[in-house]
Amino acid sequence: MLIEDTPRDITSIPFAHHGTPALLTPAERGARTAEAPFGSVFTEHMVSLKWTGTDGWHDGEVGPYAPLVLDPAAVGLHYGQSVFEGLKAYRTADGRTAVFRPHAHGDRFRRSAARLLMPELPTQTFVHAVEELVRADAAWVPAEEHRSLYLRPLLFASEAHLALRPAREFRFLLIAFVTERFFGAPRPITVWISEDYARATPGGTGAAKFGGNYAASYAAQARATAEGCDQVVWLDAQERRWVEELGGMNIFFVEGTGAQRRLVTPPLSGTILPGVTRDTILSAAPELGLPVEERPVSVEQWREGCRQGRITEVFACGTAAQVSSVGTVRTADGDFTVGDGSPGPVAGMISDLLAGIERGLAPDPAGWMHYV
Ligand SMILES: Cc1ncc(COP(=O)(O)O)c(C=O)c1O
Repeated sequence: MLIEDTPRDITSIPFAHHGTPALLTPAERGARTAEAPFGSVFTEHMVSLKWTGTDGWHDGEVGPYAPLVLDPAAVGLHYGQSVFEGLKAYRTADGRTAVFRPHAHGDRFRRSAARLLMPELPTQTFVHAVEELVRADAAWVPAEEHRSLYLRPLLFASEAHLALRPAREFRFLLIAFVTERFFGAPRPITVWISEDYARATPGGTGAAKFGGNYAASYAAQARATAEGCDQVVWLDAQERRWVEELGGMNIFFVEGTGAQRRLVTPPLSGTILPGVTRDTILSAAPELGLPVEERPVSVEQWREGCRQGRITEVFACGTAAQVSSVGTVRTADGDFTVGDGSPGPVAGMISDLLAGIERGLAPDPAGWMHYV
């Protein structure tokens, strides 16, 4: 395991429970979640915490999901001092609820905050907040195999002060929504290689889950959509040659066939988001007989590798999209196909393994599932 998941022995701050309203009936909840496009059907509760320089973390509460009252001069709104996370709660086949690798997400949340000079929420408190929300919204954790509860922790600067300096007051929020397959019915995705925009530069914020990274990526994603593609592929900002990741996913290449197959993924260079799914695959793949290698791959190598049959599959991975095969690669110079353009067996094998662990059906020796 490359990222540690073991709980740390730090006492979390308490969360008060406020004015929890009567839950929707199962029929009302069912009607609200009949269609669940990503990020649109929110649950009934949220968790909130405050931080100030004098009091540290305080005012932890679990209450109804509700709009905020925010000063118009809040730093987070103006200068974007804001980081977030994305993790999922699953209903296992035996009816329990569990969150996938919350400590790993909590650790990344701390690292993102540190990069933006924001206070670091102790991982144990992060996990405690997650447990509180999952308990409050337990009825929202879907039982259908292709659905889950996506948890969205957010930390932003709430101080009303427009001098250009890091804020001294922050707000942590945790909300949740029901989600299903990110790309709709399972199918290979088409990706657009972005040569005119760059996502992250050395020394920049690419390794942080920082809100501004995503706002800045909209123009490239809009171009990808206009080109008929599902996702943008980012290249390194300096040479515009080396494949880094997708808009919201990391990328793996499968080289070779049969017993010679191996997985290759670009190394974490500081410009790539260190995905928890990426780490999970790097840890689990050798057990499936798939050696792994972290090595840069250029667009020319990708195109040539596909032409020669050396690269047999490519797939994207992330919490939201899980494992999605790339079928077609579109560039300003034309398209090329990965394999025969259909989903590959390695992506299928890894996808099945992750789904098995998430549903509590496959062994979980690393303890990735955190039962709530
Ligand atoms: C830019 C980017 N890369 C990769 C990922 C995949 O990370 P994870 O597997 O932790 O969801 C995400 C999603 O969080 C992302 O936004």
